[in-house]
Formats: sequence, C-alpha cells, structure tokens
Amino acid sequence: QDDAATGLRAGKALHSARTHPGLTNYGDNDFALFLRKAFIKGAGYSDDALDRKIIGIVDTGSGYNPCHANMPQLIDAVKRGVMLQGALPVTFPTISLHESFAYPTSMFLRNLMSMDTEEMIRAAPMDAVVLIGGCDKTVPAQLMGAISANIPAIQLVVGPMVTGSHRGVRVGACTDCRGYWAKYRAGEIDIEEIAQVGNELVPSAGTCGVMGTASTMAIISEALGIAPLGSACPPANGGQRLRVAELTGKLATAGLQAPSEVLTRKSFENAITVLQAIGGSTNAVVHLLAIAGRVEGLNLTLDDFDRIGRNVPLLVDLKPSGSNYMGDFYRAGGVPTLLRELGDLLHLDAMTITGQTLGAALDVYPASFPQDIVRPRSNPLAPSASLVVLRGNLAPLGAVLKQSAMSPALKTHRGRAVVFKDADDLMARVDDPDLDVSPDSVLVLQNIGPVGHPGMPEAGYIPIPKKIARTGVKDMVRISDGRMSGTASGAVVLHVAPEAAVGGPLAVVANGDWIELDVDARRIELVLDNGELEARLQKWNDDKARRKPRPARGYAQLYHDKVVQADQGADFDFLRAAGADNAA
Ligand code: FES
Ligand code: MG
Repeated sequence: QDDAATGLRAGKALHSARTHPGLTNYGDNDFALFLRKAFIKGAGYSDDALDRKIIGIVDTGSGYNPCHANMPQLIDAVKRGVMLQGALPVTFPTISLHESFAYPTSMFLRNLMSMDTEEMIRAAPMDAVVLIGGCDKTVPAQLMGAISANIPAIQLVVGPMVTGSHRGVRVGACTDCRGYWAKYRAGEIDIEEIAQVGNELVPSAGTCGVMGTASTMAIISEALGIAPLGSACPPANGGQRLRVAELTGKLATAGLQAPSEVLTRKSFENAITVLQAIGGSTNAVVHLLAIAGRVEGLNLTLDDFDRIGRNVPLLVDLKPSGSNYMGDFYRAGGVPTLLRELGDLLHLDAMTITGQTLGAALDVYPASFPQDIVRPRSNPLAPSASLVVLRGNLAPLGAVLKQSAMSPALKTHRGRAVVFKDADDLMARVDDPDLDVSPDSVLVLQNIGPVGHPGMPEAGYIPIPKKIARTGVKDMVRISDGRMSGTASGAVVLHVAPEAAVGGPLAVVANGDWIELDVDARRIELVLDNGELEARLQKWNDDKARRKPRPARGYAQLYHDKVVQADQGADFDFLRAAGADNAA
C-alpha cells in the first residue's frame, strides 16, 4: 500500500516518461492517473511493475495471417528483453494484413492499418514501442503509423519462412508458386502435381522466402536504421529469430530516438541504395514514398529512385532477380554483409535507432568472407538500376519497371496494344483463343490503380495469353496502373500515374495503338500525335458515365476520396506530413 501511495504521490505511474496531454484526463490529471492505475491492477500488476518504464509491443497475430504464426513466441522473447532491462512490457493488438486474406487487396487496407497503429500508440501510455510485423503491407503500415505518432519506435519482423522441396527441387513462396502455375497453365504439369507443389510452397510460419515485398521491407528497415542490424534475415522458426526479438526488447528500453530524429533524407537514400542492390520489390517504391511522406519536410520523389539506382549494382542473388532464398542470404551474413560491400555508396554517417551511426554499427561485422549470395561490387549480377522510373506521354507522373527481372530482348520494344479495360475484362478474355494478340503485342490493363480497383491490386502481372504461352513465349511487355507481387518477374510496367480511373492517358489507349518502350532512355510512349491524344482525353473527361462511382459509405468512400496517386505512395492526403511534397 505504501508503494501505491508513493507511486501516486510521485505521479509517475502509467504517466510514462512521455508527457501525454492526449490521454483522457476527466478534467483532473491526478484522478486520471488514479483511475488508470486502479483499472490495470485488475490485470494483476504490482506497483513495482507499474512504476517502471513501459514498452508497448504491437501484436499483429491473426488466425488469418499464417506469415505471423510465430507471433506468440516473438512477443515472449521481446518481453524477456524488456524485463531483463527492468522495464514493463505491455502488448496491444492492431489489425493484421495477410496478402491472401485481405479483400479487396492488402494495399487497400495498408493505410487503415497505419491509422490503427498510429492511434493505438497515441491512445495508451508507453515510453517506446516495438512494432512486430512482416507480411508485405504490415511493415510499411507500422512505420507510417509510428512516424506519425512519433514516439521512440523499433521495428521487428517475423522473419522469412523456410523452403520446401518438390521432387528434389527446392521451392519457396511465391516466385515458385508462379513458376509452377505457369507450367500448369502451359500444360507441362498435371493437376495432381500442382496440388503436390501446393503442400511444399509454404512449409513454415514466416514471410515469403524470396526477395518479395516482405523481405524487401525487412531489409529496408535495417537500412533505414529503424530495425536492429542483422534482424531481417534469420528464419522465422529458428533460435536466432528469438534472440533478435529479445535484443529488440532490450534496445526498446534503452532510450531510443524518435523516428523523426532517425529518418532523414540520408536514411531514405540508403534505403533506396539497398533496394536497388537487392533487386527488391517494386512495391517498396510505393511504400518508401508513403513512409517518407509521413516525415515532416522530407521530399522524396520517384526521380530519387532512378537517380540513385543508376550508380548501384545488383549484388544480391535471390529470386526473382537471381536464384536463391532468404535462408541463403542469412547464411551469407545477411544485410550487414551487403552494407559492408556497398560501403561508400551508403551514407555511413546516417543515424540509427540506437544513436549509433550506420557506419559505427557496421564496424563490428567482417568486411568480407567467402560466400556466394552477396556479390562483390567488382562482379555484380547487373551493373546498375534494377528498378527504373519511366516517363512519357503514357505516364506523365511516372511508372516503375524492374529491369533486373525482365527479358533483356524487350528493353527496346515497339508493339501494338491489346487493351483490357479492367481486371474482370482481363480474366474474361486473356485466354480466349480468338484474342487478337501476337508475341510482339503490348498487353495494356486499365483501371487497376489506387482509385480504379480500388487499392491498386497486384494484377499488373498480366498472364501471357494461353495461346502465346503454349508456343513457349515467357515474357511480353505489359503495362498497367496497378502493382505486381515482389516475387513476380517480367517486362511489366507498373504504377502508371496518373491512373486510368482519374483520367490518366492510360485510360485512352485503344486496341492496335503503337506503344514504344525504351528502358535505357526511361521512356514509355503512346505513338499518337498530341492533338489526337488531347481529343481522346477530352472525350474521356466529358463522358461522366465512364467514371468510377463513388462508394456509398465507409472506409471505401474515405479511400476513394483521399488516396493520392502512386507517385506519392498512395497514402491518404490527410495523413501526409506538413511539407511532404513528394510529387513528381
Ligand atoms: Fe505474407 Fe508473402 S504472403 S509475406
Ligand atoms: Mg507479395
């Protein structure tokens, strides 16, 4: 009882070091403190526990999120780390997003998860927060939310899943999902075999084991300085993953910097350098623009990605750009090995979450050792620019292409458009034996942008029409305002802005139009004289019936009204920080 009185007198219990004007105070701060303490005692806490520093832990476990199935063990380990430092861990849930169980798309819900994260951090007293995420959209959502809440925050990821095996061949989600499905579509394997593959693609908890969006964002979190070095690659089901979690808990108690102190232009340039060197997911471009858009006064644009990429070689040999899996990258030393190799291409004086510079934090890692996943800069997989930004009359605000994962023969290409007006039209006609298409055609998919679908689904990976695939053609030029999974590959032009649904030029491409792609010149053009293009756009504008109807209510309406275009990260306009102006 004395303890209780002392705590109340000192006025510190559950206030946390952070002064918290936002907490409900019933017009009387002391009463509010008394009440908070009285309530949480119902959960059995002692005054000794409650008078310590409080570390919030965001629990994103869900029965619908197999990628996060190791969440209970991770939370245990984070708590252990926090308590070893003498602080009190308190977990709280937010929504969880899995790629396959997030209708209509996980991207549609990313901004909602960021709002949930931001507001739940704000809603309760905590001195710092550990964000546990992993599946594609969860890490960007958590970083966006934590930056806006702006209390000390550290990112922990659930870790990559292990690989499986099919008839002696190593397989992993989800590059191989696509590879085997393409074989099935082409009639190379039968339905029994594709079912067997389905048992091996996802053999454990954890995120997709190739360089998809989850791996990319985990690695980028290290590069940004907001996750511990060496934390991205340890497998989800191993001891090192739990030690990383324990360490994260320890670090969270150690007086972390707030995100606004850590995340500067230099940290984002480091993130882009790493994104280019790993041949990372195209989705990371949208996410980094959205994350940067939450930092006050930070002005990151699509052009930063292209400019930086021109000097950065592709070094990491992982699928889909290369041929290995995250477990291999882990055995090669993971992100620290890569960062040491990148060396002077990085801003080594960029700050990290622990108050150390990136360079100082890297110093404890060996400069190099024999391994064959992270190539030396003298012998890269590709000399530069795994991700490029294209512009032209078809994408005045930009489009993104992963040139490291496309057929080199298509880098300069001229072909006639075969247009699908939306995802349903694509599904209905792409395999039609009468479709007027040749291997040289350019497949155009309209209306899968942020407003168009909505939520910018990963439908930009337009399948090769069956009749063409059967002739052995593996790649064609494809263009859309949507996204594609980071685990996919091909000559796929994505994120065309402005999108078709808001009257971007993509909306008026017609069957048979000539389209020119020139990757080296960073051009994507509709071969049409300006007058004709203007006339078509005018006609589109006048035809109100073609407009996407505004959703009648709820989050869909908010999304429709407030989402910004892909070149600004497809965040909501009202969530972006003051002074964030990453317009092209
Ligand atoms: Fe969760 Fe791939 S589905 S990371
Ligand atoms: Mg994905």
